[in-house]
Amino acid sequence: MGYEESSTSADPVEDWVVDWDWLDPSWGTDAIDIWNAVREVTPMAMTERYGRAFMPVTMEAVSAIAKDTENFSSQWVSVAQPDAVRRPAPPITSDPPHHQGHRRLLLPSFSPRQIEPMEDELREYCRELIEAIGGDETADAAAQYSQHIPVHGIAQMIGVPDSDAEVFRDWIHRNFQLAPRDNRVREEVTADMRAYFGDLLDARRDDPRDDLASLIEHAEIDGEPVDRELKLGYLLLLILAGIDTTWSAIGSGLWHLGTHPDDLARLRDVPFDDPLWLTMSEEVLRYYAPVTMGRRVVGDTVVAGCPVHAGDQVLVTFPAANHDPDAFERSDEFVIDREVNRHVAFGLGIHRCLGSNLARLEMEVAFQEWCAAFPEYRVDGSRETTWTSGQIRGPRTIPVVLR
Ligand code: HEM
Repeated sequence: MGYEESSTSADPVEDWVVDWDWLDPSWGTDAIDIWNAVREVTPMAMTERYGRAFMPVTMEAVSAIAKDTENFSSQWVSVAQPDAVRRPAPPITSDPPHHQGHRRLLLPSFSPRQIEPMEDELREYCRELIEAIGGDETADAAAQYSQHIPVHGIAQMIGVPDSDAEVFRDWIHRNFQLAPRDNRVREEVTADMRAYFGDLLDARRDDPRDDLASLIEHAEIDGEPVDRELKLGYLLLLILAGIDTTWSAIGSGLWHLGTHPDDLARLRDVPFDDPLWLTMSEEVLRYYAPVTMGRRVVGDTVVAGCPVHAGDQVLVTFPAANHDPDAFERSDEFVIDREVNRHVAFGLGIHRCLGSNLARLEMEVAFQEWCAAFPEYRVDGSRETTWTSGQIRGPRTIPVVLR
């Protein structure tokens, strides 16, 4: 099948209520305004670009979908062409009853007891990145800072070298930016990832180490060895979920502080153990939540008054729910010291993010070290900040004036 035949329409969106597209470039820059405008009209927008697919924008509709694992299956966690080949990447692609065993296998590695001891080393790593910027007047806070930190964190845990970071970022670009519209890209990038992790599993078979790759290679569930196909799926998921997500969250926070000097000033000389760092990070997660998931509809049901049918696809638009005025006071304001913040950036229900302790640690350390080093930095409005569209939304270039 040729490129043209296998790809969906990339025409610019004119009406977000009946023809939404998460790969439209304006999703990257204007998503929050888009969801707010759709919410004025309907709780559920739709499109025919990927077959029939819905986009809920209220907390009520998003929660209903995330919690209903009978009618909404995680076999498809990205809204893409309906005939795309979907391979398992447990636990994110697993439904009950299998989901629990896969999640239990990975969960202990991401507990606070495992993650907290990483703080000093992560802090040191952030300081090295800042030192590398040296005395320059300007920098790119994404290319020189935010994109590196999550790679460093998850690569160590999995047991792959930081020096392969470019390879991982290339997979991420192809997987999230190109594949939903193009099945051929999906097949190619999946083959590349499977080859890389197949070699890693082989290496750990006879030479186990203290890392996730070894844990996965030797994994058993209920006394039975885990199928190799699923082992590859765990590793694909961990690298994809572990990098782009937190890279986007750190970048969004740095972009926010660099465009809102009042908020940046509030953090000046604030000790690292002050709760303001925590409330700031949580508000970044609420306001700029980077992750939107997909589901396959497997049973006919009704969400927020809208009938959906088996065979349809839906987004689980967690970021849109975070802007629902029925769920948050002053939902359209970034409130740096927001006390009650029940955001759903990490999802809800059985698939709630397994890496949230790691993500939170990386975010807080990254913000603290950057703000301590550059207490007066600002985003350079004369140069372009670029944002990704689609499943993971965040800034990929953030030109800043440092002093
Ligand atoms: C700010 C950063 C992050 C955000 C906003 C985020 C968001 C999410 C969301 C919304 C889900 C729910 C998926 C669903 O309902 O289908 C999820 C699941 C998951 N996340 Fe994260 N994530 C982040 C960082 C990480 C990191 C660093 C890792 C580490 C590898 C990770 C690993 C996972 C895994 C394994 C799942 C699947 C859990 C399950 O299915 O039981 N995430 N994440």
